[in-house]
Amino acid sequence: MHNAAFAELKLGARYSRLAAWDAQGALQTAKEIGMRGLNVTSPFKEEMAKLANKCEPAVTQLRAANTIVFKENQAQAYNTDVAGVSQALRAHGLNLSNRNVLVLGAGGAARAVVYALLQAGAKVTIANRTWEKAKRLAQEFETQYEVRTLDLSSDKASLEEALKLCSIIVACLSTCEEIIDPALISPSHTVLDAYYVKPSALVKAARAKGASVIDATEWLLFQGAQAFELFTDNPAPLAAMRTALKHQAPHLSPRISLIGFMGTGKSEVARELSKLTALPMVDLDAEIQAEEKRPIAEIFSAGGEAHFRQIEHKKLAEVSKFPKGILSCGGGVVLRKENRWLLRENFLNVWLWAKAETIYQRVGQDESRPVLNHHDKKQAISDLLAHRLPLYAEVADLIVSAEGRSAKAVALKIAENLRSVAAEEAADNHAKA
Ligand code: S3P
Repeated sequence: MHNAAFAELKLGARYSRLAAWDAQGALQTAKEIGMRGLNVTSPFKEEMAKLANKCEPAVTQLRAANTIVFKENQAQAYNTDVAGVSQALRAHGLNLSNRNVLVLGAGGAARAVVYALLQAGAKVTIANRTWEKAKRLAQEFETQYEVRTLDLSSDKASLEEALKLCSIIVACLSTCEEIIDPALISPSHTVLDAYYVKPSALVKAARAKGASVIDATEWLLFQGAQAFELFTDNPAPLAAMRTALKHQAPHLSPRISLIGFMGTGKSEVARELSKLTALPMVDLDAEIQAEEKRPIAEIFSAGGEAHFRQIEHKKLAEVSKFPKGILSCGGGVVLRKENRWLLRENFLNVWLWAKAETIYQRVGQDESRPVLNHHDKKQAISDLLAHRLPLYAEVADLIVSAEGRSAKAVALKIAENLRSVAAEEAADNHAKA
């Protein structure tokens, strides 16, 4: 949805997935690459709130951040889940001031909902199967507001009473099973269930009873819209974002490319990833050398860089038609616009990142790399990297830092992320079915 918004406003920005081992590492890589901001998801929201230089009040209250914006070299933390849920309710025509709202669940999402509702002037009842957890959540707000709680597992009479009083129900449970007796739902209820994998029992009951249902992705949309505005200082193009969220499947290709500067370990990581995924590995430079029957340095010295790029483009076009595989690319493959297009169209692109100093340590003494044929290799690396950085970013679907990690660890992290993307796609298809 963010990429659709960038395209709509012609901002030339890119929203990619960052594979990280911890919040500290994610923050570090984001700073090194020069990202404008980050969205943060479980399990890093709490750790990120602690690491940020500055927190908006919602982050301090919830002790969790889902958005980081880098401004004046500082990581500023926001929690757009808060405005996201109240905007989703308001966009449905609901006025929250003095309204009684029943919140189901007492975890992290419920905490953001309770805070948003209380801020908007609503009266909140928290119902949870473990009542002690609901009570603890209510206590976080009790000095300022009156928050009621009830035990979902045994307090049937109070639940019935709460459902008569509350016309809005927001469910933040990790299950889609029946929690509330459908007989208690009436046409006057409005239900927002954060469980979006498939319609929950509550959503089904609400529909059957003629109650109003707010699509679960609306919360996702509005929290994203607010993050977009924080990242870009532009009003979010909601219609384009909504269409992307509802209709675009995540890009999952059986062809995976590894892009990134020389010395980031693309070939070794590709080899490890090939073992882990059982997908065949293809090395673009090796293919070029085999066809030309001479090393890359000779191709450069015979025909110059332009000649090499021509052959590189032809080979990339060829391997783009491979049914599946892991492609390790040369560091300069992103220089040509047609190559960036081929990569984006045909591959899931993983950008391996390392800092200029690290690259210098790894390849600074290597004389076989023609593009580094310069008396000041350190300077050459940092200039080339600065020039190419936005080109890698333009193509990357997934970013992984190779700093201080073995090729095997990096490959494992990539595989873990590919599995998550696949799971998200499966869930998405399930929800659409
Ligand atoms: C190049 C990187 C090399 C190779 C060629 C040009 C570059 O590949 O394609 O020497 O322009 O960065 P590696 O990134 O695998 O070293």
